[in-house]
Amino acid sequence: MRRKRLILIAPTTSYRLHDFLRAAESLGVDTLILSNRCRTLSRLWPQQNLLSVPYSRPAEAVAKVADYCQDRPVDAVIPADDNTTVLAAMLAQQFGLPGNSPDSMRFCRNKYLFRHNLAQSGLPAPDFFQVPLRENPESLARRVRFPCVLKPLHLSGSRGVVRADSPAEFVEAFTRLRRLLQSREFVQKKEPESGFILIEEYIPGREVAIEGLLSEGRLDILTIFDKPDPLEGPFFEETIYLTPTRETTAVQANISATLEHACRVLGLRHGPVHAEARLNDRGVVLLEVAPRTIGGLCSRIFEFSSGISLEVLVQRHALGEKVATGDLIRSPAGVMMIPVPGTGILTSIEGVDQARRVPGVVEVSITAEVMNMLVALPEGASYPGFIFARGATVGEVETSLRQAFAALHLEISPTLSVAGEYTTACG
Ligand SMILES: Nc1ncnc2c1ncn2[C@@H]1O[C@H](COP(=O)(O)OP(=O)(O)O)[C@@H](O)[C@H]1O
Ligand SMILES: [Mg+2]
Repeated sequence: MRRKRLILIAPTTSYRLHDFLRAAESLGVDTLILSNRCRTLSRLWPQQNLLSVPYSRPAEAVAKVADYCQDRPVDAVIPADDNTTVLAAMLAQQFGLPGNSPDSMRFCRNKYLFRHNLAQSGLPAPDFFQVPLRENPESLARRVRFPCVLKPLHLSGSRGVVRADSPAEFVEAFTRLRRLLQSREFVQKKEPESGFILIEEYIPGREVAIEGLLSEGRLDILTIFDKPDPLEGPFFEETIYLTPTRETTAVQANISATLEHACRVLGLRHGPVHAEARLNDRGVVLLEVAPRTIGGLCSRIFEFSSGISLEVLVQRHALGEKVATGDLIRSPAGVMMIPVPGTGILTSIEGVDQARRVPGVVEVSITAEVMNMLVALPEGASYPGFIFARGATVGEVETSLRQAFAALHLEISPTLSVAGEYTTACG
């Protein structure tokens, strides 16, 4: 029997590549990695299973992959990150594989389209509207009801998401977000989404994250995470995720029904979903639904809790196998995304060994490199690292994570910001 082949779409900056490749190896599956790696450099490093494609021109990328795969059958396509989901759907269509339509992926990728598509669903939702960057913030501030949240349409990890409680805060947030979206990074990418800001009513309430798996439109909840830190703004740095959730069975059922309903409306039918929601007296208010697995290194929680790898599960599902979705969390577990302490050059990281010795801690993974730039929210895009813990109760897990974090010390050397772009003070 021939070995199965899986396409993994992972950008050069992906946290997920290692865990997905390890999973494919354990399943005895061949992988073809589609990266947005610079084409010039790619020619210097020819590698059997790596193809560089232009993510920003998906039709061209699909043609290149189809050509490359003429004599190489493809059995599944997996997007590792948010900005690869539309390309994954187009490739699944090209190879006649089960998956979501490219349109449904676009609805999830663009926060305005997401809200717009759910607006008629009857599900609880905030008021929202989008405005072009050229709009005058002072006059907008007169139309807006407070508190509100401003956000870019297509970024992730809370990047650019800012709460405003007054006209003055609104003008400041709008100007700051406009500066970010007009910075070199976004001008170079030329994505139309960078030309707009979404303005939403602020949704109060507790926040949860949901990991699910859709099979032909039916949703299985893999787990619900509680986020115990208050996320009240003005910026929304993700920190701790704990599982299993402490929400009641009735609330969990409502979360599941709401998410399944939203997936139906959005046209999502098959594969992993990662969603976030706030819980309040209006019910379950979805913040976003992403057709991919949980980001960063967070999926390791599953392996620490039950020995079951989320990447293995998702790959087997994508290859058409029937997978058991129960029992993924056996002991309470959690992760802390280490907050960025400030904007500047990371000059040293201390206390990692002490953090690792905290009872309950199973891994402290520092992903930032010393002498690299760290950028705090709302402009920043990545975390310096992740702490994982498990314990007899979620309360114990939370304590372990907080103790480990307290043992860490990240030293930052300040930088100068010139016209919204960051430059190092030390040259
Ligand atoms: N309308 C809102 N009301 C309250 N909090 C919000 C709202 N929108 C976003 N947030 C907060 O900001 C975080 C990031 O927003 P989200 O839309 O999920 O963007 P991202 O794709 O960057 O994660 C959310 O997890 C939530 O804590
Ligand atoms: Mg989010």
